[in-house]
Amino acid sequence: MNNKIINFIKKKNKSKIISLTAYSKNIASIIDRHCDLILVGDSLGSVLYSFSSTKKVTLDMMIEHSKSVRMGVKKSLMVVDMPHNTYRNPKEALSNAKKIISKTKCDAIKLEGGKKVVQIIKTLIKNKIPVMGHLGVLPQSAINFKFKGKEIAERKIILRDSKLLEEAGVFSIVLECVESSLAKEITKTIKVPTIGIGASVHCDGQVLVTDDLIGLNKINARFVKRYSNIEKQINEAVLKFKKDVVKSKFPTKKHSY
Ligand code: KIV
Repeated sequence: MNNKIINFIKKKNKSKIISLTAYSKNIASIIDRHCDLILVGDSLGSVLYSFSSTKKVTLDMMIEHSKSVRMGVKKSLMVVDMPHNTYRNPKEALSNAKKIISKTKCDAIKLEGGKKVVQIIKTLIKNKIPVMGHLGVLPQSAINFKFKGKEIAERKIILRDSKLLEEAGVFSIVLECVESSLAKEITKTIKVPTIGIGASVHCDGQVLVTDDLIGLNKINARFVKRYSNIEKQINEAVLKFKKDVVKSKFPTKKHSY
C-alpha cells in the first residue's frame, strides 16, 4: 500500500473525510483545496450526458474525463469509477483497471458490489491496484434507488459484504443510501473508512456529486443538500454579457487588439 493510501486510512477516527466528484480539470482544481478524495464518478453518465442510468458509461468516457480531472488534482486522492461491464471477471477487471491507471495516473479505482466482486478485488490488489468498494444502492445494477438496510436479511448481507471487502483489502468503502444504524454498525466494525452518500452522519466521511451540491444539476434526492445556486450566478453573468454585446459595450478597447 502506498503512503497516500495509508495516510487516507489513518484519517479514520481522527478527522472527517471530505470527498466530492469531479469530471473536469476546472472543477477539480477548485475542490482539490478542500477535499481528501476526488472521485471521477460514473455518475457523469446521468449528470453530464443525461443517460437514464450509469450502465451506458464507457471506459473511454471515464478515461477522457479522468485525464482532464488529473490536471486539476494536486493533493487529494484521485479515484476513478470502473464503469458497468468492465469488471465481469478478474482478467477483464485487471486489464481495464491497468488501462485506467496508466492512462489517467489516478491513485485508485472504485467498483460496485459485495461478495460477487471479492475475487476481482483480490486480483486487483495482488497487482498493486488500490481499490475502493461501494455497497448499498449500486447504480450499475440497481432496479430501484430505495435505501438499503430496512430488512434484517438485507442488513446482514450488507454487513457481511463490508467485512468481505475489508478482508479482500479495499482501502475504503462508499456506502450509498444505507440506513443510519447499519451505516453506524459497519463504520464501527471495519477498520477502513466508510464514505457515506445518503448513509448518515455516522460514516467516516461524506461524498456528494459536486454538480448537485452547487445547484448545477437538478436532482431531487433526499441525500442532496444544495450549498449554492451556481445556475443563478451563471445566468446573471450571461445576461450581463448579452446586455453589453447588444449595447456595443463589449468588447471595449481594453479587450480588443
Ligand atoms: O458515481 C458516483 O458519483 C458515485 C458517488 C455517488 C459515490 O459513485
